[in-house]
Amino acid sequence: YVGWPGLLSAYREWLPVDNHTPQLSLHEGNTPLVYATKLSEMLENDVYLKLEGANPTGSFKDRGMVLAVAKAKEAGKDTVICASTGNTSASAAAFAARADMQAVILIPHGYVALGKLAQAVQYGARIVAIRGNFDEALAIVREIADGLGMAVVNSVNPYRLQGQQTAAFEICDALGTAPDALFIPVGNAGNISAYWMGFEAYAKAGKVLKTPNMFGFEAEGAAAIVRNQPVEHPETFATAIRIGKPASWDKAVHAAEASGGAIDFVTDDEIAQAYRLIAREGLFAEPASAASVAGLIKRHQHGLLGRGQTLVCVLTGNGLKDPDSAIRLAGDVTEVVDSDQHAVIKLLERRV
Ligand code: F0G
Repeated sequence: YVGWPGLLSAYREWLPVDNHTPQLSLHEGNTPLVYATKLSEMLENDVYLKLEGANPTGSFKDRGMVLAVAKAKEAGKDTVICASTGNTSASAAAFAARADMQAVILIPHGYVALGKLAQAVQYGARIVAIRGNFDEALAIVREIADGLGMAVVNSVNPYRLQGQQTAAFEICDALGTAPDALFIPVGNAGNISAYWMGFEAYAKAGKVLKTPNMFGFEAEGAAAIVRNQPVEHPETFATAIRIGKPASWDKAVHAAEASGGAIDFVTDDEIAQAYRLIAREGLFAEPASAASVAGLIKRHQHGLLGRGQTLVCVLTGNGLKDPDSAIRLAGDVTEVVDSDQHAVIKLLERRV
């Protein structure tokens, strides 16, 4: 390889890999931590955005998937299976292709953003769309995988969370310390649990002297943990986190409580507003990712934020994953004119 070697090499001593583990990589990880100038000024804190959409398949899922697929291959499996709201399936399909394995994905019919579906198609996954939601798809996967001899690569697979810890490592490595607080979307609740594992592991090893307060945000229409009861029919336009029975529920509650943070919800309107503010920073994240920034702003508005701290919001997925949401929320702002310079000048002289 040239350049960054990927996570299994870069964080080898922190991960369950040895000489028997296939050296699988799409050079995932090493994503930018971008200082958000406008949000920092607006909120009177140093706000950084962890750009997980810069991973090879455009989401944080690659961090856990590289390890989960490598370990499945090491165990002699030839097929991986997962349920997904889209990103997990794109990542599973990509790493399966890379490892010369098959991927089977179960998705909620009609509720996967276009970019994610396009990826799964192109990477050659077997795509099964169920007439039901993510929670039902995951329940089916967990029931059938063993009988079919397939490896489950949802975040109920412990290798997924171990791989996803590396994002917390990278944040600490980049800042030279742990942030004061971390803000992150919550869907199936795996990622917040993985970050907390990572921060704790780094603190325990003496790499950092503190751990951040962990703040996780569900979508209001899918806020099972906040309401302390499963949501039978979860709804939100942030389809990535349209999940009513989070698998890592207990781990997420533990992360919030043990870190001095909280799990809260944000409304679809708050998510949409944060989605636009992120774009003003020059960054394009998918709607679910904006729940982290929406949550940060919500805490500010409720007077709960304080000042002068180092805060990190995780932007979990690339905005290109869901072009329909961008166009729908902004409206089609394209101005169509004749192919003629005078027509273009006339248009541009009219201020909007
Ligand atoms: N953000 C994005 C872009 C996601 O795709 C997901 C989860 C989350 C946040 C929430 O992370 O589930 O660990 O709490 N997507 C899964 C999927 C469910 O199938 O792609 P979580």
